[in-house]
Amino acid sequence: MTYSYTVYKGSESGAIKKATNTKPELTGDQVFLRVTASGLCGTDIHYRKADMALGHEGVGIVEETGPACTLLKKGDRVGWGYEHDSCAHCEQCLKGTETYCAERKMYGYADADQGSFATHGVWREAFLFKTPDNLPDEAAAPLQCGGATVFNALHMYNTQPTDRIGIVGVGGLGHLAIQFAAKMGCDVVVFSGTDSKKDEAKRLGASEFYATKGVKELKDVKPINRLLVTTSAQPDWNLYLPVMAPGGTIFPLSVAEGDFAIPYMGLLAQGLTVQGSIVAPRFIHKRMLEFAAHHQIKPITQHYEMSEEGIEKAMNDLEEGNVRYRAVLFNKA
Ligand SMILES: NC(=O)c1ccc[n+]([C@@H]2O[C@H](COP(=O)([O-])OP(=O)(O)OC[C@H]3O[C@@H](n4cnc5c(N)ncnc54)[C@H](OP(=O)(O)O)[C@@H]3O)[C@@H](O)[C@H]2O)c1
Ligand SMILES: [Zn+2]
Ligand SMILES: [Zn+2]
Repeated sequence: MTYSYTVYKGSESGAIKKATNTKPELTGDQVFLRVTASGLCGTDIHYRKADMALGHEGVGIVEETGPACTLLKKGDRVGWGYEHDSCAHCEQCLKGTETYCAERKMYGYADADQGSFATHGVWREAFLFKTPDNLPDEAAAPLQCGGATVFNALHMYNTQPTDRIGIVGVGGLGHLAIQFAAKMGCDVVVFSGTDSKKDEAKRLGASEFYATKGVKELKDVKPINRLLVTTSAQPDWNLYLPVMAPGGTIFPLSVAEGDFAIPYMGLLAQGLTVQGSIVAPRFIHKRMLEFAAHHQIKPITQHYEMSEEGIEKAMNDLEEGNVRYRAVLFNKA
């Protein structure tokens, strides 16, 4: 018995190419699932020209389970994100931070033959998450990477309800970060290029909003304890250091090339921390889904068809800044 299904790959020209992937009979805790939907993350844009299957915010339905599966059964709604496997025995795995396992299998580095832009996939049960009943697929998909990334930055590093949280960039990650931080009880301050997202940011839970394009100095902003940077490029750090509270933490989440250049004395003199952070280990990913389900935190989505044309259109829209706030691709039922 083999499994053949459609995946969508990047290519040198940036065109999306349909291909067939085939997997052998299920072994261990492998699960064969049908993909219902996938979010389109900013990171997918970085791989658009790579010869690999794209997509890492998948949701779907279990079709078959391998011999060692114990948790999932046919018909279960599940999702998965950036990490697909880890060694399970190193110190990082043992302490529950398998996202930093030296043998981690992550999007862009492993499993290039399949992704969430696909009709189906074969993934390990251990890295699949049950979708809460009260989260529809269109909401659950963007949580698998975008939601997990911002929730992790807030939750793993012990955000307090008394913290003022700054969110830089209101895209897929940013608009979820506003909602998570607001529901954690924090005062949420948003920094965005222009005023165009102001009303939506406030509706999602921001108490203050600052447009930053062309701005050289942020005046009269009360100090911020944690700054989550979710822009698709690194911001001007000179703009943000002066608004940080002493002892505050900056979480640079953008995937960007080049070095991290930050005003040196500004960092020292205020005792700031810069905390790198990626998606969430599984225990935090699970908490994120439960928190989102409980508080009904949902992305605002734009819908596209899971096809070569649909993926290209969604990617073009995202690159041109025309997605409000997360593109979701759907397979035909
Ligand atoms: N660390 C991780 O584990 C992780 C996980 C997922 C994604 N990421 C990265 O996080 C970033 C955001 O992802 P996303 O999916 O939220 O992307 P997105 O939806 O495109 O949002 C990015 C936002 O950045 C702002 N922006 C757009 N172009 C910009 C530019 N040239 N310079 C500065 N800001 C710009 C816009 O916000 P405004 O209009 O409000 O200014 C835009 O909505 C990407 O770099 C992605 O690769 C990292
Ligand atoms: Zn490990
Ligand atoms: Zn992502």
